[in-house]
Amino acid sequence: MHDDLAIVILAAGQGTRMKSKLPKVLHPIGGRPLVGHVLHTADVLEAAVIEIVVRHDRDRVVEAIGDHPGLVVVDQDAVPGTGRAVQLAVDALPDGFAGDVLVLSGDVPLLEADALAALVAAHRDAEAEATILSAVLDDATGYGRIIRDADGTVHRIVEHKDASDDERAVSEINAGVYVFRAAALREHLPNLSAENAQGELYVTDVIRMIRDAGRIVAASAAPDARVALGVNDRVQLAEAGRILNERIVRRWQREGVTVQDPATTWIDDTVTLAPDVTLLPNTHIRGATSVAEDAVIGPDTTLVDCEVGRGAVIKRSDATLADFGAESTVGPFAYVRAGTTLGDGGKIGTFVESKNSQIGDGSKVPHLSYIGDATIGERANIGGGAITANYDDVNKHRTEIGDEVHTGTHNDFVAPVRIGDGAKTGAGAVVRKDVPPGALALTVAPQRNVEGWVEKNRAGTRAAEAAARARRTEEAAGGSEAEAH
Ligand code: UD1
Ligand code: CA
Repeated sequence: MHDDLAIVILAAGQGTRMKSKLPKVLHPIGGRPLVGHVLHTADVLEAAVIEIVVRHDRDRVVEAIGDHPGLVVVDQDAVPGTGRAVQLAVDALPDGFAGDVLVLSGDVPLLEADALAALVAAHRDAEAEATILSAVLDDATGYGRIIRDADGTVHRIVEHKDASDDERAVSEINAGVYVFRAAALREHLPNLSAENAQGELYVTDVIRMIRDAGRIVAASAAPDARVALGVNDRVQLAEAGRILNERIVRRWQREGVTVQDPATTWIDDTVTLAPDVTLLPNTHIRGATSVAEDAVIGPDTTLVDCEVGRGAVIKRSDATLADFGAESTVGPFAYVRAGTTLGDGGKIGTFVESKNSQIGDGSKVPHLSYIGDATIGERANIGGGAITANYDDVNKHRTEIGDEVHTGTHNDFVAPVRIGDGAKTGAGAVVRKDVPPGALALTVAPQRNVEGWVEKNRAGTRAAEAAARARRTEEAAGGSEAEAH
């Protein structure tokens, strides 16, 4: 814990340029809201206090952050601007706090704790009253520019909207992240004015005030200019998401995960992967998903909040809140919904949908089926085209299928219904009554053929002609066959 460091996260703005119902800082990248990344990084620095300044849609922002021990929420009033936000945050600092204040922006999500720790260290080495995190960008449009004196020292920051053409030509920008001595903020923030293009109090104006008072301002360049990216619109949101994903993919590659096509593989920051996992192209691994060693996921697969066992193979499928056992196989083209668990060595095959169902070790649902609200024992085999009729328009009911059960193709299980261990069902059965262990359930009436129906009722059609031809051939052959017997 560093008693001499406080962190302030600015998250009160509306984010007009996003044109969104959702507050800007709640737009997600890598499975967390923008502000969640900033908080996550702030936590690592072990500051004495972390404050977050909120206003626009404040309840939603506070709720999205959730339980965050020690976080102080500061409500910004109707006075607009980053200067006002920092002012209220400074007012809310513990009495007598005399250390440094690290100001972070809720919309600058890619900075890592190392870079911030280096910024604080540079600030202290320079004995500055303020240190700006800077970056040099090819396209600095929209950012505040760092204006230096002839001798190269930082003089002030000018916002894009207030800048002259010459100032706009400057490519060194303010990343919206700074360290200030608390005393400097207390001294200068009350003197801010809103006489600027946006009619707001700018925290950036404190820089000029510190210089005018004859004190030191420093700027420290971000290790990689891309991490200074601020998200103001959806173009920048996608760019930040891509950079973050690149970073996450590389991290897992270095941990022993094979990622065949990093450009089309998307991994949330919240995912856990084991060594020797293979991710094939166009695969999205999201939320709290964890994947055990030797599993192969993809191509064209999305997993959300899933647990994947060792050596499982999941191909061209979509799964949410599901558990897949070791060596199980899924897909191609499976839709696995919440509450599905598949046992070790089990199979959810092609064009199978499942939901809220437990499929036991070694059990297989290989083809064209809907398994909902079902419990299937071990080593059962469910014939192609099985449907659990789990919904009677009012309630959902369960289908229970025992161990070693083999069901025929194209069965309906009208729940609630129970199939005992080792039982079998015939093809096309509509199972409405429980089947005792070891029984064979047949529900289909014997087949009845109405001979000559087509020739009689569909005379003149091509079907009738084909039938007539077949009858004549059969009669010719039948005659001789009958003689042979
Ligand atoms: C700000 C900086 C700019 C810098 C850029 C970096 C100012 C005046 N300008 O510009 O120099 O280059 O960030 O990304 O600070 N916020 C509040 N309260 C408010 C207004 C904003 O808390 O009243 C928060 C926003 O939620 C956001 C952050 O402050 O997280 C920055 O605000 P934004 O409006 O995005 O500032 P920029 O125009 O990007
Ligand atoms: Ca911004």
